[in-house]
Amino acid sequence: MKAAVLYEYGGPEKLRIEEIDEPVVEKSTDIKIKVLASSINPVDWKIRIGNHKYTLGSHFPIILGFDACGEIVETGNEVTRFKVGDIVYGRLNRKYGRAYAEFAVASENVFDHKPQNISIEEAAASPLAALTALQALRDKGNIKKDSSVLINGASGGVGCFAVQVAKLLGGECWAVASKRHFECLEKMNPDKLIDYTESD
Ligand SMILES: NC(=O)c1ccc[n+]([C@@H]2O[C@H](COP(=O)([O-])OP(=O)(O)OC[C@H]3O[C@@H](n4cnc5c(N)ncnc54)[C@H](OP(=O)(O)O)[C@@H]3O)[C@@H](O)[C@H]2O)c1
Repeated sequence: MKAAVLYEYGGPEKLRIEEIDEPVVEKSTDIKIKVLASSINPVDWKIRIGNHKYTLGSHFPIILGFDACGEIVETGNEVTRFKVGDIVYGRLNRKYGRAYAEFAVASENVFDHKPQNISIEEAAASPLAALTALQALRDKGNIKKDSSVLINGASGGVGCFAVQVAKLLGGECWAVASKRHFECLEKMNPDKLIDYTESD
């Protein structure tokens, strides 16, 4: 299969498209997908330039790409929620992700079926940012129907999911962003929009 392979830290020009072996289903709970789309989360380019070398190590060659949407081509024999042919998306739980390739393998529990109302590309751009918002608000913030939530950076990758999660789980939601993004944010129905360039 083809993959974008990194042999040294640096800019996007360091990614080399090469022919490598396909990943294999090793565990009974693994799923192998044909990658239909992946995305560039900030953590992908931060790893690419070497920002995470002290926490993740420098195990070259590296294949980046945490977020993916793909078609299942093989399942481990204990996989119950999915079957070959399903279109799924998720944040891959492999070192560095490894979705910048034609095929990828990750555990069943990091995937879900792609919702019908979003495109393959939208699904591939969502998992890490959306999960960050969900974990922050639901699991750490423990927000409830009577909670008032202020989302700083509401127009960003995490923030736009956070506004939607806050509206679903919480009570009042105020969103902070610059005015150029208000039109987009209004579609997420926050109770108040604050332009940080105009007020504290
Ligand atoms: N992306 C992920 O999956 C992810 C995962 C884990 C953690 N994080 C962390 O979450 C944070 C946000 O990441 P992100 O990817 O969502 O960033 P992002 O897409 O770059 O968004 C940042 C947002 O912050 C807003 N902003 C800039 N200056 C501001 C200010 N002075 N006051 C209020 N808002 C301001 C910007 O709004 P305007 O554009 O409207 O000016 C922008 O939309 C970062 O600390 C990142 O490390 C991100």
